[in-house]
Amino acid sequence: MKKLIFWILAGAILLPSCGKREESLDALTRRVFSVAASQARDMDARLGEGETPRTLENDGTLINDGIGWWCSGFYPGSLWYIWQYGQDPEIQALAEKHTARLDTLIRRKTDHDIGFQINCSYGNGLSVHPECDAYMFQCAEKLAARYDPCPSVIKSWDNPKWEYPVIIDNMMNLELLMEEARRHDDDELKEVAYSHAMTTIQNHFREDYSTFHLVNYSPEDGHVIGRQTVQGYADDSAWARGQAWAIYGYTMMAREAGLAGDEEEKDIFLNQAEHIASYLLGRLPEDGIPYWDFDAPDIPAALRDASAGAIMASAFAELSGLTADKALARKTREMALRQVRTLASPQYLAEPGTNGGFLLKHSVGNLNGPSEVDVPLTYADYYFLEALLRLQ
Ligand code: GLY
Repeated sequence: MKKLIFWILAGAILLPSCGKREESLDALTRRVFSVAASQARDMDARLGEGETPRTLENDGTLINDGIGWWCSGFYPGSLWYIWQYGQDPEIQALAEKHTARLDTLIRRKTDHDIGFQINCSYGNGLSVHPECDAYMFQCAEKLAARYDPCPSVIKSWDNPKWEYPVIIDNMMNLELLMEEARRHDDDELKEVAYSHAMTTIQNHFREDYSTFHLVNYSPEDGHVIGRQTVQGYADDSAWARGQAWAIYGYTMMAREAGLAGDEEEKDIFLNQAEHIASYLLGRLPEDGIPYWDFDAPDIPAALRDASAGAIMASAFAELSGLTADKALARKTREMALRQVRTLASPQYLAEPGTNGGFLLKHSVGNLNGPSEVDVPLTYADYYFLEALLRLQ
């Protein structure tokens, strides 16, 4: 009898430890950055002069684009993140080479995306190349020149289809303005960013804190002509990447307003980010990776968008450190961890030497196009690496 009790107790103690232990965040991060470094080298070997990676064809052929493509900063940015993590001089040289390819962007007629393009590339290399700040400042001024006090927002696109279109994605580009405003003590850049973010709170969001994709303003008197989607399922649906830009944008603005010592603005932006977070936490699927649109008609068979999952993970990781609401801090960190664990699983993470040099599989660029459907995308990789660095 004593023997039987001994074996039952021993079993109860030993059995759970025989199960597979969850990989630690450190080990997961090490594993992902090792794959990322090998994929990034592979990508470099595929790119010709002046080319930036865009995605893969169905047959696995790499599709490139020029520096004008809105994503041209993400591959250099990923290289800087890989360098930040591993300090490998070879990766630094690649980051420098691919960042320098964007040095003529300022001379091009650009849209609001110059913020993404320059901040993700040059911005992440600034600790090594502080001399590039002068170029970044010029780019910030170029972006701010797209602002008009009526309707108090930066115009996203010069497209005659709309009078004055502003997409929620534009929130992301305010980071360049805020950072350059801080470095140069330039209140004008900061005021443009605050004004854009405040007007967007008023006009882009629904009662439940989901966001429309595009708001079209009247340049004459600033009134809202219309609200619609371009890349989502419907005008009144919640396109996942739009929601991701929204939470990331307001979390970033709360951080930046805090750094600028503007407590009133910080509270407004943080409050907005907290509401968006609560909305998203209530709608994300169990594994944390959103469907390409939260209202896609064929859920649960609908496509997932890894890029939106990665952007949200990075935003949740930052928000968990900014919010004073302890329960929300815990929930957003848990969600960020869940999202990066899912993205680091074989379902999403590429095997080294596959996936055309990209890190993640299964993102959706523009289903309505249709273009870039269920493919790798540079911004999924970039924000995934950023999320991991932030969670550390
Ligand atoms: N900024 C463009 C997109 O999210 O597809």
